[in-house]
Amino acid sequence: MKSSDIRQAFLQFFAERGHTVVPSSSLVPANDPTLLFTNAGMVQFKDTFLGLETRPYTRAVSSQKCMRVSGKHNDLEEVGPSPRHHTFFEMLGNFSFGDYFKREAIAYAYELLTRVFGIPLERLVFTVHEQDEESPRYWIEDQGVPPERVLRMGDKTNFWQMGDTGPCGPTSEMHYDWGPQACTCGQPDCSVLLDNGCARWLEIWNLVFMQYNRDAEGRLTPLPKPGVDTGMGLERIASVLQNAPSNYETDLFRPIIDRLIALVGKGEAHYAAQPAPYRAIADHSRACAFLIADGVRPGNEGRNYVLRRILRRAAYQGQTLGLTRPFLAETVAVVIAIMGDAYPELVAKADYIKQVVTAEEERFLQTLASGLEQLEAIVARMQAEGRTIMAGEDVFRLHDTFGFPPDLTAKILASRGLGIDEAGYQAAREEQRRRAREAAQFKRGTQAELWSDADLPPTIFTGYSELRGHGTVLAIAVDGALVEQASEGETVQIVLDRTPFYAESGGQVGDTGVMHNQQVVVQVQDVQKPIPGLHVHSGVVARGTLRVGDTLDLEVEAERRRDIMRNHTATHLLHRALRDILGEHAEQAGSLVAPERLRFDFSHPRAVTPEELRAIERRVNAWIRADTLVAPAEMPLTEARRLGAMALFGEKYGDIVRVVTVGCGDDAGRVTLAAEQRLPGPPPAEAPEFCSRELCGGTHVTRTGEIGFFKIVAESSIGSGLRRIEAVTGRGAEEYVDQQLGLLRDLAQRLGVAPAQLAERVDQLQQQLRQQQQQLAQLARAQTGQQLEAILQGQREHDGVALIAARVEAPSIERLREMGDWLRAKLGSGVVVLGAVINDKPQLLAMITADLVQQGYHAGRLVKTLAQIVGGGGGGRPDVAQAGGRDAARLDEALAQVDEALAAQAGERRPA
Ligand code: ALA
Repeated sequence: MKSSDIRQAFLQFFAERGHTVVPSSSLVPANDPTLLFTNAGMVQFKDTFLGLETRPYTRAVSSQKCMRVSGKHNDLEEVGPSPRHHTFFEMLGNFSFGDYFKREAIAYAYELLTRVFGIPLERLVFTVHEQDEESPRYWIEDQGVPPERVLRMGDKTNFWQMGDTGPCGPTSEMHYDWGPQACTCGQPDCSVLLDNGCARWLEIWNLVFMQYNRDAEGRLTPLPKPGVDTGMGLERIASVLQNAPSNYETDLFRPIIDRLIALVGKGEAHYAAQPAPYRAIADHSRACAFLIADGVRPGNEGRNYVLRRILRRAAYQGQTLGLTRPFLAETVAVVIAIMGDAYPELVAKADYIKQVVTAEEERFLQTLASGLEQLEAIVARMQAEGRTIMAGEDVFRLHDTFGFPPDLTAKILASRGLGIDEAGYQAAREEQRRRAREAAQFKRGTQAELWSDADLPPTIFTGYSELRGHGTVLAIAVDGALVEQASEGETVQIVLDRTPFYAESGGQVGDTGVMHNQQVVVQVQDVQKPIPGLHVHSGVVARGTLRVGDTLDLEVEAERRRDIMRNHTATHLLHRALRDILGEHAEQAGSLVAPERLRFDFSHPRAVTPEELRAIERRVNAWIRADTLVAPAEMPLTEARRLGAMALFGEKYGDIVRVVTVGCGDDAGRVTLAAEQRLPGPPPAEAPEFCSRELCGGTHVTRTGEIGFFKIVAESSIGSGLRRIEAVTGRGAEEYVDQQLGLLRDLAQRLGVAPAQLAERVDQLQQQLRQQQQQLAQLARAQTGQQLEAILQGQREHDGVALIAARVEAPSIERLREMGDWLRAKLGSGVVVLGAVINDKPQLLAMITADLVQQGYHAGRLVKTLAQIVGGGGGGRPDVAQAGGRDAARLDEALAQVDEALAAQAGERRPA
């Protein structure tokens, strides 16, 4: 049986028995801070089990993408050595939410395994929790399983929970028996009961009877309705049904291994002799492909860090196999080929996934070399000091500076019989994080606490269809405390029973406006939702006294809100155009929808080219001109998913969601081009059919035509693989274009030409400028020549030595030195002292020919004496010296002292 058939048979078996087929949720759990990755089929149903959420069905079946690399369920270290453990795997599961319980769950499982999959009873062993009296009866009496094949075991094997907290309960498991010849434990009484990891026994299916919720203190409370959660690893059942000695020999893995064997080039025998690195790479290639498809990027925190670690482990394993260049794109391509049918997101983002993988591999290879050097240095030190454990700080530094994940360091050290101080590493890492966190810490909390303690009903939001309305004040807060009233001039927070004011969310900023009645006026400056569903208006009481119970007229600042609506709809169109033009990977990573502009962050591995930006802009504007209806509608989440609505990464949605659709053809007659307003005939060619469908709670225009005009004003990088586009629409775009044209007009006017001639004129001017600069330089040279000639003429004699002491015009110290050099050369033998004012500061330069230096003349001392007169200091070598001062007015005075200063050196001179 092919694994795709197994997956299909499982889903169909339960669908035929009244189960709704629910698609796999993302590997990134929605809004669940207790969990890094989805690690079981039940994760997306957690709230349903806890009774916090109801669904339109009580039976479900799924094939769920799972990762077990952290927290309670972590198999990372087993991957490679173990033939059966994986980071990424698929879990087949059926679920009952207060519907059937143990008896039916057991009956279904038995029927599927023995009839549909045809596994003989003699190959199966069943375990039950030792305190569970019912389950053994169902296996033995209902299904006819011989009692000796039903084993009672304790909490360790037969009690399951999702994490440290959450739903949990006793289990019943099915194990497959590979036969005595497969035994690896060598125990005479080899059995599942020994729970010793013997390869003879393979756990293939776990039925969890969900009965309790475990809270943070470890207490168990019964669930409102007990249910069933089951999990069967597709990879394992495939190994059984394909009679494969390891999961890696099934059709889920073998093609990846084959490609790898070809890349390594050492043949099948090499793989057979040391399968671990091959297996690890095959496993990690799957994990990387699926994680990247679900929006995770290699990085240094949380999920991103896990991806980086897995990817680098695979790259390192490749090194040990002799692969020196990036190769993971090759194995990942096989993953996409095998799994693309079942998980189309892989195909949609195929190029992007390969790019991300290769880029990270390249980064890793770059750091590997320098990191290895560091590692060797540390190891040498350890050996000199006779230590076998690398200090936590060193491990952390290798990681932090050289991108060496600690497990990689551990792996390299292990091959030489050395180890790492894991706890010390954690402490060093924690310390760094603590420092990073401290700054950002105190942001949230107090507001959320205040308003959840206030225990108010959710605000009814009327602002989708109106910008004015009435509401009654339910609560007022001043300075973070609830009050009964607030007087003129006070800054307040207000909660009403209903409001047209939008509260900041989904990137869209909160509304502003005014609330008033005969007695009181409040200016609203912002609206936030500190807890879900509660609109908290912030503002100032401009007149009168505001009281709880007041009824107010509410007026949103309409023009501002319309600007926001234009930008929000434009954001959806931009998102669609980005994915059309750059590829499906260009997913939203964040956004800001403000009145003046919109900002949209998305994943893309490189800068968007000017041509691409232009194409995006054109497309959005064509859609705007098509004046398409924007159709918001509420519908069940499943329906939204079926329609392919884009959900935001990591957002949690309720059962009923709001979907905003633009375009999308003739969908139920609601959403279409504004056909009734168009001239007869086919739609304009410039506006190809398009379809934007997003889960969104924001406010939008009614037709795209209201957006008016869309203009991108900036594109930039905001981190590895993340880009940002800023754009304007409507009035903002008008203003932007005005500004730009104004700039052009202003420039044209200053230059005295029409805007169209600007470029030509600027060229002309630049050329003129160059010519004039050349002329100037020539003139300056000629002038200096004349100046120097005159100075040379003015040479005197002092005590038999040729002397020049003159004030000159020089633009810079360098020019001054050049002049000095020229004069000294002309003199042949003599003393040159020049003074100049450069940048408002007096500067003195003295130069003395070598013969006179021989006789004891000293330029440094000379300059030092003179510089004192201009309020400065300095000095230098006997042949050349220079000094600056502060008092330019006394420069001439200083130059007049040259003779005296030279005479003062007489005592130190040696006779010629
Ligand atoms: N949630 C159960 C498991 O993961 C079925 O094993």
